[in-house]
Amino acid sequence: MAFNHHNSVCQLGYIGFGVSDQDAWDDYLTQILGLQSNGDNGQGTRYYRMDENHHRVITVPDEKDDICLIGWEVLNDQVMENVIQRLEAGGVAVHRGSEEECNAKQVSGLAQFVEPNGIASEIYYGPVVRPEVPFNSPRGISGFNAGLQGMGHIVLAVDDYDTTLHFYRDLLGMGLSDYLDFEMMPGFRAFVAFLHCNPREHSLAFAQAPAPKRLLHFMVEATTLDEVGATYDLCLDKAIPISMTLGRHTNDYMLSFYSSTPSGFDVEFGAGARTLDPETWTVQRHNSVSIWGHRRPA
Ligand SMILES: [Fe+2]
Repeated sequence: MAFNHHNSVCQLGYIGFGVSDQDAWDDYLTQILGLQSNGDNGQGTRYYRMDENHHRVITVPDEKDDICLIGWEVLNDQVMENVIQRLEAGGVAVHRGSEEECNAKQVSGLAQFVEPNGIASEIYYGPVVRPEVPFNSPRGISGFNAGLQGMGHIVLAVDDYDTTLHFYRDLLGMGLSDYLDFEMMPGFRAFVAFLHCNPREHSLAFAQAPAPKRLLHFMVEATTLDEVGATYDLCLDKAIPISMTLGRHTNDYMLSFYSSTPSGFDVEFGAGARTLDPETWTVQRHNSVSIWGHRRPA
């Protein structure tokens, strides 16, 4: 059965990071990546915009320096009810958000649960959007490719591949885009699954791998290749470690580079990806991460 957004999550709406140095993150998100600060809740949670939505990235104080929240959008209250029922039938404890919890996330409805790798997660519908206050990047990024494709994508290191696939595909309802089977390091073969929930080629990817953090990287997509180049230059100028040089991926055709964030995991900054049609997409398998580039600097 093909992915159907009337019965599943429809975008990676927002992600939260638990970070030990929120000020360093504030600088990084706004001055390097070009997101727009959108204030805080008075209790340590800070919000950042990438488009007309109230927030796409959240930071909270936490020594773990890892992803601490995954927010998945659904079309409306009826879809949310369907997904809740599937989660509960699958043995997942779901907490229905109170009015106060919905207000804190600026959404109309919310349900919270923990995904199989221990990451706090939620599904929501009806987020506050403010087209009357256009996105305005503090470093002049013209905009991000977010909107209906969501904030970007995340790549996780998971405990068990099959359990995680079952959760995201069969309970949240995402569609499989492709597999990547490659030698990540000498002697270690990684098997990565990539999943979609809208035309973005993948909103989530995961591999069963021993890693110090759950989040391997997150990706944001600018609207022009020149802004990827300019951001690459900015990282070089500010001596921000480049983890992977410019390159183009085999699955989503993203032209991107990877740099290190203040929490140690990477951010992929890209543009120019292809999209897929969830109705007609057939699963692919890749043996290489990139068509060209994405080299580890010496
Ligand atoms: Fe990526």
